[in-house]
Amino acid sequence: MSVFRPDLFKNCVAIVTGGGTGIGRAISYELLSLGAKVVIASRSIEKLENAAGELGKIGDVTPIQCNIRKEDEVKALIGGTLKKYGKLDFLVNNGGGQFPSPAADMSLKGWNAVIETNLTGTYLMMREAYNQWFQDHGGAIVNIIADMWRGFPMMAHTGAARAAVHNLTMTTSVEWAANGVRINSVAPGSCISSPTAAANYSDSVDVFEAIRDKLPPHRTGTTDEVSGAVCFLLSPAASFISGACLNIDCASSLYTTMFSIPEHKNLPAYKWIPAQQKVVTTKKDKTSTDEKSKL
Ligand code: ADE
Repeated sequence: MSVFRPDLFKNCVAIVTGGGTGIGRAISYELLSLGAKVVIASRSIEKLENAAGELGKIGDVTPIQCNIRKEDEVKALIGGTLKKYGKLDFLVNNGGGQFPSPAADMSLKGWNAVIETNLTGTYLMMREAYNQWFQDHGGAIVNIIADMWRGFPMMAHTGAARAAVHNLTMTTSVEWAANGVRINSVAPGSCISSPTAAANYSDSVDVFEAIRDKLPPHRTGTTDEVSGAVCFLLSPAASFISGACLNIDCASSLYTTMFSIPEHKNLPAYKWIPAQQKVVTTKKDKTSTDEKSKL
């Protein structure tokens, strides 16, 4: 049950990439429950159809298969949505993916795949939605990023891509303001618990259980707590908010890290032995120092 008023998004049309699972599914669910028509897009048509079966009980949902890395498929997704619903109000760029790895061990193929999905895919979605619709009609975009504000150990690829997406949010919020488009980012912390997120980390340890007591709220967050923020940013309540990022982590990014550094002595204190310790003071320097000391 959404905290927003019923029918807030009646007659609105939204696209949610990665809308069939995890945070994307929660966003699609809340938009539908508020009366929006929602296109859920993802690479896997099976996951989409399963989700659409469930979400279809809430409202008007259409699954469209789309690999956001492919320009022609992105063009077809935006075009197909406009053909079916005749308009587009909201774009939620949630589709993405990554795998944990030390930065030093990432293959170029793995690195490129994550950059292409999270950064290039989001860019293509924004560009096409803008060129095909938002440019002439306005609209609102929310880009889902991540808690990468202090770097993202073990996730260098997605950390770099998500930081770049927020920069894209800032750039387009200025470039497209005159066209009535607002663009914001939402950064769910790594403390938002969902089966999809758990699969990103480890099969053997319950990471969410392990970090729970290190989080300021002493609990993990839910996907519904992310979707509420997204609905707020899409709504008229955020009519003067653009180019911003909302962290959905209850201050965890200010306090906690999931990464621990092993005990080591590999960064010893800097030892500087001056070759000559005589301090040379010119007359001019002396005068100015004396003058300053009178102040
Ligand atoms: N979710 C994860 N990867 C994706 C992709 N390449 N296209 C669409 N949705 C995705």
